[in-house]
Amino acid sequence: RTVYVNGAYLPETEATISIFDRGFLMADAVYEVTSVLDGKLIDFEGHAVRLQRSLDELEMAAPCTQEELLEIHRKLVELNDIDEGLVYLQVTRGSDGDRDFVFPSADTKPSLVLFTQNKPGLADNPAAKKGAKIISIEDIRWGRRDIKTVQLLYPSMGKMMAKKAGCDDAWMVEDGYVTEGTSNNAYFVKDGVIVTRPLSNDILHGITRKAVLRMAAEAQLKIEERLFTIEEAQAADEAFTTSASAFVMPVVEIDGVALGDGTPGPIASRLREIYLDESR
Ligand code: PDD
Repeated sequence: RTVYVNGAYLPETEATISIFDRGFLMADAVYEVTSVLDGKLIDFEGHAVRLQRSLDELEMAAPCTQEELLEIHRKLVELNDIDEGLVYLQVTRGSDGDRDFVFPSADTKPSLVLFTQNKPGLADNPAAKKGAKIISIEDIRWGRRDIKTVQLLYPSMGKMMAKKAGCDDAWMVEDGYVTEGTSNNAYFVKDGVIVTRPLSNDILHGITRKAVLRMAAEAQLKIEERLFTIEEAQAADEAFTTSASAFVMPVVEIDGVALGDGTPGPIASRLREIYLDESR
């Protein structure tokens, strides 16, 4: 695989980053994941705008212009011959060659790393036909989940808790209300109304969320952005998640309770189809 690191396109085995890089030592880094379908980037602009917002919130310098970022994305997709898959991008605050809680001087160069992941069959994923089984766990992450940082240890542990329980993923709950999935936004559908948590600092402002809610509104589906509990979702007709890496993923079970007849619901399945059709 050819990867990108700080200006160079290299074989992955030759790409290096300093051990003092603050991304490595302090998770002082932000990232984006952009999906690729038929060799084309999906919603690059949305991801680039959110990346800039994450950088601004952390007072981190942009590594390059949006046009240059697009060029790097396109070149990696081409060099690695990606038809279906994703591009991972990470920007870190870099380092001035030591470990220090104080940020390095403002002229320190940020690190920029990108790589592709080839995922043939991503659109036709059999997991979406089965639907996901979810467990709920307490949300103990920090309070700025709207910034897409690489602090992913707890979401990663949540995913492992789900796997150990024979499930696929976890939804996180704070003060009794669902925040989001470990790496996706969460929704349920009851009596034809789609319910999802409103945007705030408590959740990531999903690029797929924005697109899917727009498409749902265009399809005359009703949407309510409000707080909801696990019990409400368990009593729903259906549920689903959205993310750049899994698009719209139906949810068929929450904490051992089957939703509807325990198979992917019609609205989730339709939204997945619309999303894939419109994105291509
Ligand atoms: N995760 N919420 C969280 C906590 C996420 O990590 C993600 C994305 C989302 C969905 O955002 P978007 O629709 O912009 O992908 C919501 C990426 C895919 C990841 O970590 O791999």
